[in-house]
Amino acid sequence: MSKIQELQSKIAEAQLGGGQVRIDSQHKKGKLTARERLKLLLDEGSFEEIGMFVHNRNRGMTTDQEQFPGDGVVTGYGTVNGRLVYVFSQDFTVYGGSLSEPHARKICRVMDLAMENGAPLIGLNDSGGARIQEGVVSLAGYADIFYRNTRASGVIPQISAIMGPCAGGAVYSPAITDFILMVENTSYMFVTGPNVVKTVTHEEVTSEALGGAQTHATKSGVTHFACANEVECIRTIRDMLSYMPQNCEETAPSVPYEPGNESRPALNNIIPDNANQPYDMKDVIAELTDAGSFLEVHKDFADNIIVGFARVAGRAIGIVANQPAVLAGVLDIHASVKGARFTRFCDAFNIPLLVLVDVPGFLPGTDQEWNGIITNGAKLLFALSEATVPKITVTTRKAYGGAYCVMNSKHIGADLNFAFPQAEIAVMGPKGAVEIIYKKEIDASPNPEARMNELVAEYTERFANPYLAAEKGYIDEVVVPETTRERLIKGYAMLENKVVNMPRKKHGNIPL
Ligand code: HXC
Repeated sequence: MSKIQELQSKIAEAQLGGGQVRIDSQHKKGKLTARERLKLLLDEGSFEEIGMFVHNRNRGMTTDQEQFPGDGVVTGYGTVNGRLVYVFSQDFTVYGGSLSEPHARKICRVMDLAMENGAPLIGLNDSGGARIQEGVVSLAGYADIFYRNTRASGVIPQISAIMGPCAGGAVYSPAITDFILMVENTSYMFVTGPNVVKTVTHEEVTSEALGGAQTHATKSGVTHFACANEVECIRTIRDMLSYMPQNCEETAPSVPYEPGNESRPALNNIIPDNANQPYDMKDVIAELTDAGSFLEVHKDFADNIIVGFARVAGRAIGIVANQPAVLAGVLDIHASVKGARFTRFCDAFNIPLLVLVDVPGFLPGTDQEWNGIITNGAKLLFALSEATVPKITVTTRKAYGGAYCVMNSKHIGADLNFAFPQAEIAVMGPKGAVEIIYKKEIDASPNPEARMNELVAEYTERFANPYLAAEKGYIDEVVVPETTRERLIKGYAMLENKVVNMPRKKHGNIPL
């Protein structure tokens, strides 16, 4: 065999990972292999592998352990829509994709390259956790990865797809990254699996219920996306990248946009006359943003707030919007944390923000207070206050109390604040306000209910409008709703070169 033939045969062997039988078994579970996934993720022919022949020779508990070139992870770089990304894809056919010391070293190598060259890192996770035969060195390998994830946070976008089991410490690398995507029915994440749970807490629970995609998309909020299958998962990653810059020094690429008639008359009719009637804020988003450009993030979690990427005249923006169709758009713990984390991503990566406001306030009650609505609500306040990207606010209806301040008010650094004529900007809603300030008068009245209604009507007329805030300059313009898109287009263009110098500090101390 010539040297070249020998190399070709070694490459062929490495590309089979744990062998055809295990590849077949992976397919039978409805899962793709590590290499098939990379093929879908990266532009055709763009993948360059690094470390194909890394071995795990003579390590671990036994020296007769079967050896597989690559050692359970495929690493390298390629392009997505022509833009450089670094990737690792764990190969479940080799020891269940478990993490050995060389496996971790390969991942660290691409992480270092991603940092040094300023390009996103995408991890396709499918792993039984620490390589049991290796003992402590695989724990060290995890810690090396966590450390790099943390150093890279805010420098390059990091995206984690969970495409199989993800247990033990292995969940913490994805948790540090910016976005997590899971695949329905074939992926799960938990600190300890159902057997340990049963031993420790006597709870009986399936893997799916404990840490499946639906659980983490709806209950814990750990995953940002629950995808129907692996193809959808990978397509979502490709989509998401198009809204992001390569690193924190750059801005996201714009897509070509043909200017046209930017008036959106439908906006005049979305907000109902009755202030207590719900409507779908996604209808407002659809009118304000480029057709079909809205990519919702965290769709199934805390849906009283909406977050996601979109484009306005081709320019990428991040949206944080109250959703009056769910719990009247109230801010609770989960909504605050969801909004805060997304805001921080956008700010870290120079993605301008659009905040749409229709919020009756923070959710009251023992459940919220005992679980820390104060600390958690403060996260959103902190995140929007510290964000220095261009920030535009549109108040479509209610902006009451503390929630008015939090939702990107002028006072916490919004650049442009618009309000629809239906906006109600005040300390609290008319009924609550009247009950407090006119309590004695209502009680003394021969017909308390009628007097109450009169006073509520009076208060609504005087205070529940945008004009008092506009008089003070807290609202820059009260706008005919149909003109709002055009104002956003001009506003983001005007703010394109915004620079804010922050006070010198090591880092802020967001109320975690
Ligand atoms: C070595 C492993 C492995 C592991 C699986 N395999 N997990 N080898 N170390 N952690 C091997 C199996 O021996 C098998 O080898 C192959 O991978 C496929 O595994 P199966 O069990 O046949 O597959 P499946 O039925 O799909 O179950 C997958 C699984 C299960 C749920 C991941 O294998 C499992 O529970 N593994 C152990 C998970 C675990 O407890 N990991 C340690 C967590 S602690 P063959 O040769 O048959 O193909 C941890 C600490 C990290 O990670 C802390 C960091 C700070």
